[in-house]
Amino acid sequence: RTIGILFGGASSEHDVSLMSATSVLENIDREKYDVIMVGITRDGRWMRYTGDVKKLIDHSWEEDSGNLPAFLSPDRSVHGLVTVRDGQMEITRLDAVFPVMHGRFAEDGSMQGLCDLAGIPCVGPGVCSSAICMDKEYTHIVLDAAGIKTSDWFCVRKGEVPSLLDLEVKIAVKLGGFPVFVKPCNAGSSVGVSKVKTSDDLEEAMMLAFQHDQKILIERAMVGKEVEVAVMGNDSPEASVHVGEIVPKLEFYDYNSKYYDDTADLYLPARISDEETQLIRQTAVKAFKALGCRGLARVDFFLLPDGSCVLNEPNTLPGFTKISMYPKLFIDSGLSYPEIIDRLITLAIE
Ligand code: DAL
Ligand code: MG
Repeated sequence: RTIGILFGGASSEHDVSLMSATSVLENIDREKYDVIMVGITRDGRWMRYTGDVKKLIDHSWEEDSGNLPAFLSPDRSVHGLVTVRDGQMEITRLDAVFPVMHGRFAEDGSMQGLCDLAGIPCVGPGVCSSAICMDKEYTHIVLDAAGIKTSDWFCVRKGEVPSLLDLEVKIAVKLGGFPVFVKPCNAGSSVGVSKVKTSDDLEEAMMLAFQHDQKILIERAMVGKEVEVAVMGNDSPEASVHVGEIVPKLEFYDYNSKYYDDTADLYLPARISDEETQLIRQTAVKAFKALGCRGLARVDFFLLPDGSCVLNEPNTLPGFTKISMYPKLFIDSGLSYPEIIDRLITLAIE
């Protein structure tokens, strides 16, 4: 089978994608799959890349002399990737696409829509589910409707920002007061996210979040263990056997502690009871179905001191970096890394 692995992308999580894609490319079964690498630059240029996988991380792949302009044709009869060599178009048929990319133009339904137009199966949830899971407001609305507990929240739209006083009242009434999290509605990896402890810091946090989106989410900060579980499947999704736990050493699990510093401790399995593990696993599968997910998602929770859980967020194209929980959780469940990739591709095709 021929599989297109996409990496990079015009998203604030471009660099995370380079780390994720490196690890997927190093682990995909090359006997079973012909791998076509397609890199997308930060400004959204597509190139077929045939060089060394090690050149992704430092962006040097972009300068490779073998790069060819490439695009995924929406013409279903093409069913694949079009590359341009010396002014001539060449077509490579693809059996599936795995966008090992995160955030905007990757995880938000747009790439899934392009693949749908092209008639090519795409790893992960489809257009609608991806769009809902990417937008934190709609994720909350669907989960609330499904009876799955999330933290208290409200949204603020650019152009409709209430006065600071009104915001403080809303935070007191709806969220029980500070601390709160301020997040862009459409972003990932904690980009643009702040934990705000007093109203003095609210405005700056909102300005930062508004740099990434027209709509921001203000959420009650939960006190509890931060745990993550991996889900795989289509009609009968299954959760990983164990749950992982993250212990941020700083205020919260921010972008740098996710990928660069050693400022978070990871525990697998999480230091929680069997009942708590089962609750997280079952709630994750329920959320996966309610959100219309297919293929995969990593579902992040807070486990509260009273043993109940609050769903933090789903991630429909979760990180696949060396430290990422999704592959770790299924390796812990008994699959090898190549098997995980193989199953995700198979789920996309079936
Ligand atoms: N958004 C990042 C990649 C994650 O959730 O793992
Ligand atoms: Mg996320």
